Amino acid sequence: MLTLGVLASGSGSNFQAIIDGIDSGYLNARIAVLITDNPGAFALERAKDHNIEALVLRPRDFTDKDSYYSHIAGELKKRGVDLVVLAGFMRVVGKGLIDQFRDKIMNIHPALLPSFPGLHGQKQAADYGVKISGCTVHFVDEGMDTGPIIIQAAVPAYHDDTEDSLGARILKQEHRIYPYAIRLYSEGRLSINGRKVIIKGDREDSVIINPPVI
Ligand code: GRF
Repeated sequence: MLTLGVLASGSGSNFQAIIDGIDSGYLNARIAVLITDNPGAFALERAKDHNIEALVLRPRDFTDKDSYYSHIAGELKKRGVDLVVLAGFMRVVGKGLIDQFRDKIMNIHPALLPSFPGLHGQKQAADYGVKISGCTVHFVDEGMDTGPIIIQAAVPAYHDDTEDSLGARILKQEHRIYPYAIRLYSEGRLSINGRKVIIKGDREDSVIINPPVI
């Protein structure tokens, strides 16, 4: 069974989708620990409700970025984490973590990368006037939302969309594709070849317009 470590900074609705995926048997995994940089994160409540160990680790309590991320890596290793899941973790992850979990960190981004990386992907897309937006699950490398893309889901974007209305449409898809990507990983169906992630078994799986119902 796959052991997950989740990093989240806020509401944690993606964290919840993963918990629900495990509870329903869709995902053959366990969550060993939730780590947050924000003592006020609602994700902490979700962890408590589901008896998941939670750690609050704030960068300001460490001397520098490297020691912060090395410490996080140590906490994850200690608990036998196989895959690190960034679920609304609002920081660019440092080398100390990436080096310890090379190709074993996933992130979800609320836009169709490589468009609109960084903060407020939903607002960037709505303001730009695109007709299609969506979300992307990708492996994490040193860049900002630049790692190899695992899976994307598309949603329509309308001329009168706001960050919130488009964001809500995108979030629904996030909750479907993130557990799905983790499931593909747990089944050993993902491999990385340069920039490309190969999904074993089904070419059509990489673009989910109508993701499988969980
Ligand atoms: C999501 O939109 C995710 O794509 C982005 O941050 C948001 C987190 O939402 N990285 P939640 O905390 O999972 O509800």
